[in-house]
Amino acid sequence: MHSFSSYPKVELKPRSHSLNPRLQELHLPMVALENFLASTKEISVQELEYVPYQRLVLAHLLDEECGGSLKKILVETLHDRATGALEISTPPDLHKDDLIKISTAVSHLVGLPNFDSMSGKYYACFDVKDTDSSDSYLRQAYRLFTLHTDGTYVDETTDWVLMLKLKEENAVGGESRLLHLDDWEEMEIFAEHPLGHTPMEYKSPPSKNVSISVQRQTFYQRNGRPCLCFIDQFAYPHTIEQALFLRDMSQSMENSPKTLSIPLPTGHILLINNHFWAHGREPFKKHLQLYRELLRQRGAFNEQV
Ligand SMILES: [Fe+2]
Repeated sequence: MHSFSSYPKVELKPRSHSLNPRLQELHLPMVALENFLASTKEISVQELEYVPYQRLVLAHLLDEECGGSLKKILVETLHDRATGALEISTPPDLHKDDLIKISTAVSHLVGLPNFDSMSGKYYACFDVKDTDSSDSYLRQAYRLFTLHTDGTYVDETTDWVLMLKLKEENAVGGESRLLHLDDWEEMEIFAEHPLGHTPMEYKSPPSKNVSISVQRQTFYQRNGRPCLCFIDQFAYPHTIEQALFLRDMSQSMENSPKTLSIPLPTGHILLINNHFWAHGREPFKKHLQLYRELLRQRGAFNEQV
C-alpha cells in the first residue's frame, strides 16, 4: 500500500488549442482535484479572503497533487511570448466554492493578485444579466466588449488576468475574445507610431472605486517586444490626434481576423499574459433570463523572466 508521500501524482501536459496554437489547453483531472479539495476542506472561501497565507498554501497543495508540474506549466506558458495564454478546464459540476479555491491556487502559483477595488477582495465576481444599470461595458450583455488590456487605470502592475466562468444560464453568444499582439497584422504600424509612445491619461468610472488618474503609454517594450496598455472606455486623450490614433488602433484590432472567439464553458479558466494578449467579449443573444457569472483575478508575476 502506498503511503501518502509515495502516492503517484498526476503529471499534467498542456496541448495547443484547436483555434490557435498559442493558446494552451490544460485539463485539471478529477483525481488531482479530489485530493486537493479533500485536503483543503477545512479552508473556507471566507478564510481565504481573511487569511492571505492560506491562498499560497492552496497553491502549494494543488501543485503537489500535480507532481510539481502545474506551477512549471503555468509559469513557462505565461512568460513565453509565443504562447502566454491557457484555457484550464475542470471536471463539470464543481461547487462554486471549489472553483474559487482552484482559481486561487492557480493564480498564486504565478504571482499575487492585486486588491480588486470593485469587490474589496483579491478577486471579484460579477454577473451579466438582461438588464444593466452600471457605468461601464463590463456588465452590458448585448454590446461587443472591445479588445483591451486590464489594469490601465491603476498604479499596480497587471502582468496577468484570470477569468473563471462560474455559472451560465440561457446564454447564447458572450464568447471570450482574445488577440495575441503578434497575430495582429497592423500591430507594428501602431507600435512604432510616435503617438503609441505618448503618455495618455486613464481614469475609471465610480463603480471601480479607484479615484486616481494615471499616465500610460499605449505601447511599451518588454523583453525587446512591444506590449499594449489600452482600453477605450477609460482613456482620456488630450488632443484630437491622440483620439484619432486610439480610435484607428482600436478599429484595427477589432478588424483583425486573428481575433479568437472562445466559448468558455462553466468551470473553465482563461489565464493570459496581460502585456501581449488583448481580451474582450462577444455580445450575448437577447434573453430575458440571461445569467452569467464570472470571477476575475489580476495581478503581478512572482518572478520576472
Ligand atoms: Fe478586461
